Order: sequence, then C-alpha cells, then structure tokens
Amino acid sequence: MTQLMKSLRIFANQCRNCTTKSAPSIEFTASTVNIDGRKFNRDKWTNVTPNILKHLNRNLHLKPGHPLCLLRENIISFMYKSFPNRAGNPIFSIYDRLDPIVTTKKNFDSLLIPEDHPSRKPSDCYYLNKDFILRGHTSAHQEELIASGLDSFVVMGDVYRRDEIDSSHFPVFHQAEGVRLFAKHELFDDDRQSVELFEDGKRTSLKQEYHTEITSKKLQHDLKTCLTKLVHHLFGSDVETRWTETYFPFTHPSFELEVKFQDKWLELLGCGVIEQQILYNAGVPDKVGWAFGLGLERIAMRLYEIPDIRLFWSNDTGFLSQFEGATPDKKIKYKSVSQYPQCSNDVSFWLPEGGINPSDIYEIVRGVGGDIVEQVRLVDEFVHPKTKKRSQCYRITYRHMERTLNQAEVNEVHKRIEAQLTSELGVTIR
Ligand code: DAH
Repeated sequence: MTQLMKSLRIFANQCRNCTTKSAPSIEFTASTVNIDGRKFNRDKWTNVTPNILKHLNRNLHLKPGHPLCLLRENIISFMYKSFPNRAGNPIFSIYDRLDPIVTTKKNFDSLLIPEDHPSRKPSDCYYLNKDFILRGHTSAHQEELIASGLDSFVVMGDVYRRDEIDSSHFPVFHQAEGVRLFAKHELFDDDRQSVELFEDGKRTSLKQEYHTEITSKKLQHDLKTCLTKLVHHLFGSDVETRWTETYFPFTHPSFELEVKFQDKWLELLGCGVIEQQILYNAGVPDKVGWAFGLGLERIAMRLYEIPDIRLFWSNDTGFLSQFEGATPDKKIKYKSVSQYPQCSNDVSFWLPEGGINPSDIYEIVRGVGGDIVEQVRLVDEFVHPKTKKRSQCYRITYRHMERTLNQAEVNEVHKRIEAQLTSELGVTIR
C-alpha cells in the first residue's frame, strides 16, 4: 500500500458522525461475531461478550458536556497552546475517533510487546478472534500514525480491559496518548555540528543502544517538562508530583508520574523515550521521540470529585446536568444526586479441579448483573482438610446508580449469577 493510501485510510477511519452514532448492532452466530455489519470469525481466542460490545459507539469522550469530553477538550487546549509552530498554529494533531477494534498486530506486535507478555492473556483483554481485539490501550495506534507521516499527535478513545470490579475499575475506560518526534535540528535547536542523535552504543538504564546520552537526556527532559506542565494545568500548580522509573516494552527509559491526593500517591500516567525499533519499523529511522499514555477517568474522578467510575456511563440527568454547558476550565464539584442503598449477597462454591480464573468470575457477574454490580470481592477461601477441595466465597455488592434496588430483585439477579457460574465455570455452589 502506498503511503498516501495508508494515510487516507487512517483519515477515513476517523468517523465523522461518532457523536450521533447509535448503539452497535451485535449478533453472535455459531461461527461469527457480527458488529455493525462486520463479520469476525470466532476461534478459541474469542472472549468478547454482548455486555462489553454494547459499550462500543458510546463515545463518552465526544459527548458534549460529558466530564470525559470536558477533560479531552482541556488536554487538547493545553497541547495546542503549549506547542505552536512558527506561525502560531498547533503542531499536535488530534485523533479521537479511531476505531477501537484493532488488529492484535497493532495492539501488541507494533509496540514490541513480547509473545509471552501478560497483557496478551485472554484473561486480561477482549479478543474478537486471534487477529482482532478491542484495543487495550491507545498506544495501539502509535506505529500507524507515525508511519503515516505524523510527528506530533494525540490519540484519545475508549479502551477495553478485563479487570477487577470496584469503584475505580470498569472494563471500558478512556485514554489519551501523546507522541512527539524530533529531527536532530528540532531536538538540539542550536544545530551544533558536534552533537549526534545516534550512536552504535550500549543499552544502559539511562538510554537505548542507538541513542547518544545527550539525545536520551534531552528527550527525557522535554517529556517530563511537558507532562509536569500538563498536570499543573489540570490540577493547579500546587499539586505535588514525583517521577518513578518503570518498564514498558515500547519505551526506554520509562517512567510513571504520580501526584499526591489526600496524602496518597496516585499513579497518573506512563511515558518514556520511544523504542527506536518502533520508529525503524514505521519507516522513520532519522528521528527520535517520546510518548505518554494517561487514563482519563482517573483524572476526571479527582478533578470533579466523582466517587464511582460507573457514573461516567450514567444517562441520568441528575449526573449529566451538573456538567452541561460547562467549559473545560470550569471548576465543578460533583454533588451526589442521592446515595441509593447497597445490597450485598455472598456466593460460596467449591472450585472445579484445575481452579478458575478470577477474571472469568468478574466477567460472568458483570454479564448477568450489568452495571448494578458495584464491587466483587474475595472474602474467604479455604481447603477442605479431607477432600482437599478448595472453596471460595465472593461478596457481590449491588447498587443502582439511579434508584433503590429491592432485595427481591437482587436475589433474582444473584441466583442467575450462581446458575451461570455453575454452568460456565463448573463450580459447585455450597
Ligand atoms: N499503553 C500504556 C498503558 O496502557 C500507557 C503508556 C505508557 C503509553 C508509556 C505510552 C508510553 O505511550 O510511552 O498502560
């Protein structure tokens, strides 16, 4: 495919009517999963469920007046303002409508994520089949956008991960991904002849084998300055921040930025110097760059004091009206519409031989209970001294965001969860 065709395809994939798109049409047949007219052949990797797929097309980050949309606009306005070209126009371009169904190649291989990396496990992500996946991070688009000729861009969108269930985890959330590339004269603005971007050296904790020490240092400095400013822009200049070193397959060195909230350090984003191999693979051997990825819900929950991640999905006007008509820089403190009471029910069972994966339990609970499930927690576990059988007890907390649940309807949902755990996972309810 020519470069132009590749780029045109990316632009065409940015759907223009995203904000008005209706719920996806989803059909499961014996051999395929059909989504909005596209057919995906099922294989042993397929683990998407109707419950997850129904979140496609919601595009909360594009919904005017939604807190995630306000945050998206706020980040965009920071990036536009902070990085003007010589005529005062923004150098960053924004991609916030890219299709969340991507190839596994994009989601993993293009980012040098090894074959045996835990993030590829079906217990951690949603596969349509061996070749297609609901993106697990917005990094999935890095390589294609770099290959299309872009040097500075931000991708925003919904990402999908199988995860635990509590007030800060939901299997669908939103991320922003930033990438900035530099040619030699852009990184070293004095264009000294004596400095070099590249060397044939050794990988150390401070740099990649391809980069000179000064290249790596300069990139890290530029990256950290940009992100510290972004965090101050969002939370105010008195928020405390700290950097920690970490590992990502697609950057080296890699860092996390943490901010202090109510006396606790909260991890806000991951970032680093882009692995040069990714730039080689994208056909850009003569530039270097940095990248970052951050979760929008995490930030929006602190900014607006939203106590539960499920609220973002609410259609309740009591929630939405608090943000309606706001500008991205407006300070809003979410006021709980009313605290509907919780109901808790326990489910205890003997595990089948070979055990089970907790993420399969969460999936079933979420699948049957939908969004009225607030939390699932393992509260007890023991091994029978004689039979050596293992027993677990999970506490499921139910709470509706918009009304009071009665015990009878919770019991009915709970029974259906027990039945499905039995038929799908082979557990024996005690
Ligand atoms: N993709 C990572 C995640 O979802 C976040 C991330 C880390 C993105 C480092 C980046 C990066 O671009 O450089 O956890």
